[in-house]
Amino acid sequence: MKARIENLLAQIKELKCSNAKEIEEARVRLLGKKGEVTALFEEFRSFSPELKKEFGRTINELKQAAAAKIEELKSTVSQEQVSEGSKEDLSMPGTPFELGSRHPVSIVRQEIVDIFRKFGYDVAEGPEIEDDYHVFEALNFPQNHPARDMQDTFFVSAGHPNPLLLRTHTSSVQVRAMETMKLPIRVICPGRVFRNEAISARAHCIFHQVEGLYIDENVTFADLKQAILLFAREMFGPETQIRMRPSYFPFTEPSSEIDVSCNICHGKGCNICKGTGWLEIMGCGMVDPNVLEASGIDSSKYSGFAFGMGLERIAMLKWQVNDLRHYFENDLRFLSEFKTSIEV
Ligand code: PHE
Repeated sequence: MKARIENLLAQIKELKCSNAKEIEEARVRLLGKKGEVTALFEEFRSFSPELKKEFGRTINELKQAAAAKIEELKSTVSQEQVSEGSKEDLSMPGTPFELGSRHPVSIVRQEIVDIFRKFGYDVAEGPEIEDDYHVFEALNFPQNHPARDMQDTFFVSAGHPNPLLLRTHTSSVQVRAMETMKLPIRVICPGRVFRNEAISARAHCIFHQVEGLYIDENVTFADLKQAILLFAREMFGPETQIRMRPSYFPFTEPSSEIDVSCNICHGKGCNICKGTGWLEIMGCGMVDPNVLEASGIDSSKYSGFAFGMGLERIAMLKWQVNDLRHYFENDLRFLSEFKTSIEV
């Protein structure tokens, strides 16, 4: 008996298993119903009291040693299996992925919206697919008037008595604002516009505008001039000067084109401003009384001004980009240059 116990103890000490299956087999071999340790216990039951006394402790120790060894093997093998299953170090930092950045046109749009919000303007948006009425008719473009040629239009349903078209300016949103908002109105309308133009460094068939409208009693051209001057100084710096040149739009009278002093050469003349010291940024004017009346506003009581600018143009001036097409090509080399300007 003694020899068998010692022999088994030695076996247990040396026991090695490389996976869970082998451990289970060893457990059954030793401690299972027909296992060797179990068999010893069976024999032990029939021993005389003297023998029981002699072997009681060692046989119990044997059983404990067998059980302890099995547990020990289980814990080492399961650890090995885990580390075998995943060779990666899960505590390593993850692979970094590049953050995107705001598109330069969005950055400029946000800046303009923020400036006019500070002046108390609301922001309004409207449909890109519009009807003739909101893009032309209500804005004092009579049917067949040559002024419609100023903005070559993409028609969605040409030939239809009331054709749908892609809006050529966001003035259509101003019409919708006049129809629905309570007076006085102070609103800016940012959005995408479409014109049937050949694509070049200076023109594109899709671009973005922010147009603005202010209607109240006693609004004068002086108010327009002051609003634009304040805007230009916020946008291009406190030293900025503006210049107004007479112009023509069917929906404003009088109308004007606005130039800002070149923020590169400060008026001395450089290749950005083509030696003139001035950069054209927007069109504007006093809202034509016909336009007010078309939207049901009493032009004998109310007056207003409107303005509109192209965002790509402003962005070109801000970052001296010389080709408009860069804004539409989604070339990451170009877009990633605006990384530092991310605002969340
Ligand atoms: N709607 C004009 C355009 O797209 C811009 C403009 C707006 C001019 C308001 C004057 C007043 O060219």
